[in-house]
Amino acid sequence: STPAAWAAADVFLADTLVGHDPALEAALDAQRAAGLPEIEVAPVGGKLLSVLARMSGARRVLEIGTLGGYSTIWLARAVGPEGSVVTIEAEADNAAVARASIDAAGVGDRVDIRIGRGEQVLPTLEGPFDLVFIDADKESNTIYLDWAARLGHSGTVIVLDNIGREGEIVREDSTDSKVIGTRDGLRMLGEDPRFDATALQTVGVKGWDGVAIALVV
Ligand code: DHB
Ligand code: MG
Repeated sequence: STPAAWAAADVFLADTLVGHDPALEAALDAQRAAGLPEIEVAPVGGKLLSVLARMSGARRVLEIGTLGGYSTIWLARAVGPEGSVVTIEAEADNAAVARASIDAAGVGDRVDIRIGRGEQVLPTLEGPFDLVFIDADKESNTIYLDWAARLGHSGTVIVLDNIGREGEIVREDSTDSKVIGTRDGLRMLGEDPRFDATALQTVGVKGWDGVAIALVV
């Protein structure tokens, strides 16, 4: 078992279960061309968001961390033409790239991009949201989880990205603020009675990582 083998198997899964998708591939090309980091969810991760949104019948989705809009397109498609996605992006340059890709994907009418830091934008939003995808600065995970609970309702699905971090989460002596923020978020999901949560580690094209999946009780 090697990272190359995980990636090859992940490519097989994506080829088999996701397939060729010109709008999503164009969004990744635009993101790369603009020099944004290639830290969007993997294709199977995007499809996980879509399947969870559809399973839960989500119509109003909140995303924290738009980046180039790859996961946003997945979520916007999943909510259907009567649904909506509010997505928060701290970097105006990222938001411009995302806006163009989301519009080109044909789902621009259901996506509202709010530019600003999560801590600033979240208090201005009106819930309830049926699904919240948290994929932004890991240092703020507990703040974002708190807002997800406040802006959610009983049954709201929360997906928290990047909970594996190459296994660093068990290194209690880590000084990496992303590792600390990730671990704090996981502890909150375990301890805070507002949540019923689990987490799955993943390996694949994005290395060794994972997602936490929680329900607002
Ligand atoms: C990082 C952030 C992400 O959202 C991701 O999917 C991978 C890595 C990061 O900040 O390191
Ligand atoms: Mg992520």
